Amino acid sequence: MQESPLLHRRGIIACLGFMEVIIQPTDESAAALVARIVAHDLRANPHLVLGLATGKTMERVYRQLVRHHQDSGLDFSLCSTFNLDEYVGLFPSDVNSYRHYMDEHLFRRVNIEPRNTHLPNGLASNLDDECRRYEALIQRFGGVDLQLLGIGRAGHIGFNEPLSALRSRTRVKALTPTTLKQNASAFGGEEKVPRRAITMGVGTIIEARRCLLLATGSSKAEVTAQAVEGPITSMVTATALQLHPRCTVVVDEEAAAKLKEKDYYRWIFENEPEWEEYR
Ligand code: F6R
Repeated sequence: MQESPLLHRRGIIACLGFMEVIIQPTDESAAALVARIVAHDLRANPHLVLGLATGKTMERVYRQLVRHHQDSGLDFSLCSTFNLDEYVGLFPSDVNSYRHYMDEHLFRRVNIEPRNTHLPNGLASNLDDECRRYEALIQRFGGVDLQLLGIGRAGHIGFNEPLSALRSRTRVKALTPTTLKQNASAFGGEEKVPRRAITMGVGTIIEARRCLLLATGSSKAEVTAQAVEGPITSMVTATALQLHPRCTVVVDEEAAAKLKEKDYYRWIFENEPEWEEYR
């Protein structure tokens, strides 16, 4: 049987088959490391298809990437981006839309082509069609090379709330009370947060060739420990990353507080050749 080039490439990566955890002293140094990995991959492949996340945690990463662009000419002109999610019902101009967030924090500060930036359209008249269109578009671009991820207090990646199928695709998802609370401050109250969002599915996310999750702060300590060291469960969709052949989790000391195998993770970062240029 003829193997497809994609499967073949994935096969090689799958041989690596592990989740790595890197502990950094502060939220700033953790974000800086994530930005350096993105910059490295973008320099290695200017046509990189980059999966993007929003949220407070990512703001520091985007600040660092803008700095890479300004100080060392990191070139975004050929890369394409796909965001994980977008609220249903918000105009792109709405300050709380994820399109607006991306324009503010990254897109208008670097030399990315606006037409190469993609987010689900939360205003589409037929949301199911829009979800299918988004999935097909990702496929048309050859899939995501590097997917940035945050983690919600409910353990979600994207807006894959508890009980999202681990093989789910892009779809409309109702947000949990925990997520509504987490995101309330930006909207000036929980009741103003849209109840639904379009999100890449867990299955969509873990098809990315590489996943890179950043978690910082003590509010993420419990859920990070569950995601990395707990049993795989749709109650904490970030646990699906344990199935991924190449997932790197970067945490600061506060978010690492409840991890059991910290010494092991530190040893790997200090000794494995893969991390030499990042130490
Ligand atoms: C946002 C997203 C979410 C966030 C997560 C963490 O696009 O996909 O999964 O990454 O909710 O958000 P913060 O960083 O605000 O705690």
